[in-house]
Amino acid sequence: MLHPIERVVLLGYMCSGKSTVAAALGRRLEWQLIDFDTEIEHREGRPVADIISSAGEDYFRALEATLTEEVASSREVVLAPGGGWITRPELLRAMPEGTFAVWLSVTPEETVRRLMNDPSPRPLRDHPDPISAVSEMLRDREPLYRLADARVPTDGRTPEKVAFEIEQTLRTRGI
Ligand code: S3P
Repeated sequence: MLHPIERVVLLGYMCSGKSTVAAALGRRLEWQLIDFDTEIEHREGRPVADIISSAGEDYFRALEATLTEEVASSREVVLAPGGGWITRPELLRAMPEGTFAVWLSVTPEETVRRLMNDPSPRPLRDHPDPISAVSEMLRDREPLYRLADARVPTDGRTPEKVAFEIEQTLRTRGI
């Protein structure tokens, strides 16, 4: 028999809606939300952008890895790591049975639209050609996001709709 699903990990590029969808899904399932960037910012007392610019990306990725180890066996949780978490795919591979990963896919055009409308500081916003930069990064990361158990496209859909669709998938697979 298949192991029942006990935790969900949302994968996806920045602005794919991970945090918002994770919150909506957590409410639907009555599961706890663990938003990695928020938790890391709380622990470090500074925004992720500052952590990366002053301590470096490797330092930030190490914080993500530590947090992953801490929460990996939690049950009834929706995990929302940052968009670059999957660049260490071994973190996903080490998640215990009962973990279901969902890739929130988004096109480069939609990513840039959301990026420009987001009031918080975001990388690439001041890039001269953000669509090309985002396309290139998405191309590099796509094989990693494909490690997910399911893909849900998010362009033109509200976070509530995306969360609803994930919930349906989970209930079909056995939550
Ligand atoms: C990153 C995405 C960010 C944040 C950090 C690095 C990335 O998270 O973790 O700036 O490498 O794609 P979001 O995907 O939540 O924006």
